Amino acid sequence: MRKIKIVGQKELNGEIVISGSKNAALGVIASSLLCKDKVILTNVPYIQDILDMIEILKELNVEAKFKDDILIIDSKNIMYNKLINPLVKKFRASYYFMGVLLALFNKCEIIGPGGCNFGDRPIDIHLDFFAKMGTTIECEEHFIFIRNKTHLKEYTFKKKSVGASINALLYLSVIEEEITLHNISIEPEVIQVIEALIAMGVSVRLINDTCIIKGVKKKKSFEIRIIPDRIEIGTYALIGAMCAQKICIKNIEINHLSWLIDLLIKLNIKFEISKEMLVVFKSEGIKGIKIKTEPYPGFPTDLQQPLTTLLLTSSSDSVIEETIYSSRMAHVNELVKMGAKLKVINNKIYIKGNNSLVGCKLSGKELRGGASLIMAALISNGESIIEGLEYIERGYTRIIDNLKRLGANIDVIET
Ligand code: UD1
Repeated sequence: MRKIKIVGQKELNGEIVISGSKNAALGVIASSLLCKDKVILTNVPYIQDILDMIEILKELNVEAKFKDDILIIDSKNIMYNKLINPLVKKFRASYYFMGVLLALFNKCEIIGPGGCNFGDRPIDIHLDFFAKMGTTIECEEHFIFIRNKTHLKEYTFKKKSVGASINALLYLSVIEEEITLHNISIEPEVIQVIEALIAMGVSVRLINDTCIIKGVKKKKSFEIRIIPDRIEIGTYALIGAMCAQKICIKNIEINHLSWLIDLLIKLNIKFEISKEMLVVFKSEGIKGIKIKTEPYPGFPTDLQQPLTTLLLTSSSDSVIEETIYSSRMAHVNELVKMGAKLKVINNKIYIKGNNSLVGCKLSGKELRGGASLIMAALISNGESIIEGLEYIERGYTRIIDNLKRLGANIDVIET
């Protein structure tokens, strides 16, 4: 088993080049199959979820070449196949193959998706959408979908869902008449999938969170640059504020960061931002805050755990309310082992300020929770050993090398 060893309290300094967004890349890779041609994606992050997605493409006879950050996908010879390989269960975004296969072949047999383990992660909204759009669904060992010709002209999502919004867009991309979707997610990752669909010839108009889509049967090939990962940017910004003399974060998209700028200001973190770069300085006097996770452009649930760790260093108490995934709290018990004073009541984390942490053995069973433990180990006194590198590598490109280059005393150990 590979674990992370960190000796804390080293001052970091330097530059980080942010990778492409995991969630945008996963959505765009799925979309690219719709054009049954060669597409070129650049700025693709080298992370496990992408490698797993590429493995699944092979089962559909789709070729993929991934070198540096360029992924060339050729789906000229795409063939229908059941997706009942356990790999499908490994990550959440495998649910996009439902929308894609139903668009291309009017059928899909697939295992339900996996992903980070933070409680109940239903796909009822995806299923309700498919059902309302004329797909019959059977589920015993796995899902069997058959798409029929009937469909609604309008659909309202009962709750904002990134995955269900993207799946709906993929599914509708072949219907050559206008369909209106209300209450869709408008995360930048969804917008990038919309850009890919538009590049393929699909007509998509977005007015606030209402989307009018008119599909097209024959789609054009396209080339797209994956947007920078806003969660990776946020994570390194918080690391910088806690323990770097100065950290220059490059390859950012400033238009996707209004929530982060607001957050850094509220926390009293010293930073400078331009179109090219976010520079964060070690900040004394970080203020405690009350904040809740929300759909974009609110504070993202994917940065809730890293923020928890940062707030342990603030000069006053804080409360984070988790409104998206109420049980995404496993990091709290691990932080308590390090001496941190915080507790969970219902879906809120109450965090005392001014903590001194002590390194210890930790278990990071979830991607963003794992990142929060790395952050805690970086500021704690002594050595920490963190299990769960495989989860962290699902979303953070070369995080160990990046932190080492910034000056952290961090290594991977094999046990
Ligand atoms: C995506 C992201 C994930 C992020 C999450 C919220 C990917 C691959 N993953 O996950 O990193 O944490 O958005 O920003 O892009 N829900 C239902 N029924 C459904 C679908 C969702 O009740 O069928 C609920 C969820 O439990 C959650 C909320 O809706 O409370 C939002 O989830 P959703 O946006 O769908 O998350 P994912 O797309 O799975």
